[in-house]
Amino acid sequence: MNTMNPSISAKADRRDQGAEIPVPQDKPEDTVIEEGKTVGKPFVNDPKFKLRNVNVSYGSDRAIKNISIDIGKHEVISFIGPSGCGKSTFLRCLNRMNDSIQICRVEGQLMLDDEDIYHSKRDVVELRARVGMVFQKPNPFPKSIYDNVAYGPRIHGLANRKSDLDEIVENSLRKAGLWEEAKDRLDAIATGMSGGQQQRLCIARAIAVSPEVILMDEPCSALDPIATARIEELIADMSKSYTIVIVTHSMQQAARVSDRTAYFHLGHLVEVNETNKIFTSPQHELTESYITGRFG
Ligand SMILES: Nc1ncnc2c1ncn2[C@@H]1O[C@H](COP(=O)(O)OP(=O)(O)OP(=O)(O)O)[C@@H](O)[C@H]1O
Ligand SMILES: [Mg+2]
Repeated sequence: MNTMNPSISAKADRRDQGAEIPVPQDKPEDTVIEEGKTVGKPFVNDPKFKLRNVNVSYGSDRAIKNISIDIGKHEVISFIGPSGCGKSTFLRCLNRMNDSIQICRVEGQLMLDDEDIYHSKRDVVELRARVGMVFQKPNPFPKSIYDNVAYGPRIHGLANRKSDLDEIVENSLRKAGLWEEAKDRLDAIATGMSGGQQQRLCIARAIAVSPEVILMDEPCSALDPIATARIEELIADMSKSYTIVIVTHSMQQAARVSDRTAYFHLGHLVEVNETNKIFTSPQHELTESYITGRFG
């Protein structure tokens, strides 16, 4: 008995005869993106960062294509999108981390509290104290736990007396949710801690210089689910005091931690909106394709 579905068998017959099989018309990679056009709500009333017509190139390759967006005060915003779409490149513009890449050129208007981030007279060390960064892989210095956290306050001259420095170290470790685990081993070498502890230490180190913004580039991708949950709790706590920009490959994480989510695609900023809107009713077909797992 021939159990083959008649329509499938008809297609198979046509293929046998060399007939053309129709290509689906809605392949995400065929979607034309209009440069500089972002759907949703890229702008806010009270921005911490005002970023307009930002272009970033590595040599002759454009990695960021005419992106405009605001990042609000005390907002948590997630950057999501397929690998290579420019999330890290754009994030690094916010505290000029791209400066160290010789072939990298940043153009456009990038303002922090209405001051030009790329002004020729801008003190980059001071900028990075205001806009701290936590990386994908925990990168504590091969020093003691105490000295890791005290490092920034020391170089920025934030504490005159040992007791002031002790207080900054304790407060930073408390805010990073690490004090109870670290208080009896402040002189121990930081690289001997677990990955999750090291990442919280890196957060404490960033917090210690009283930043206004914390940039996080996939901060949990090297961590297990329990350590990840702790960092996510921290992000929720920290959002009361800081502006937080987080790059993540985990859509669940973006949904859990962020107020708004920005979807990047091939160097374009396709859509920005309140996080629940992005995940429940995306306006752009590329956003929808990505969040439904059709590519990425
Ligand atoms: N240092 C560099 N030199 C040259 N090209 C680079 C450099 N860093 C990034 N690029 C290029 O810029 C584009 C964007 O890369 P970027 O690292 O910003 O993407 P991403 O969205 O963070 O990706 P992933 O999710 O994989 O981390 C890519 O085409 C990448 O090859
Ligand atoms: Mg990246």
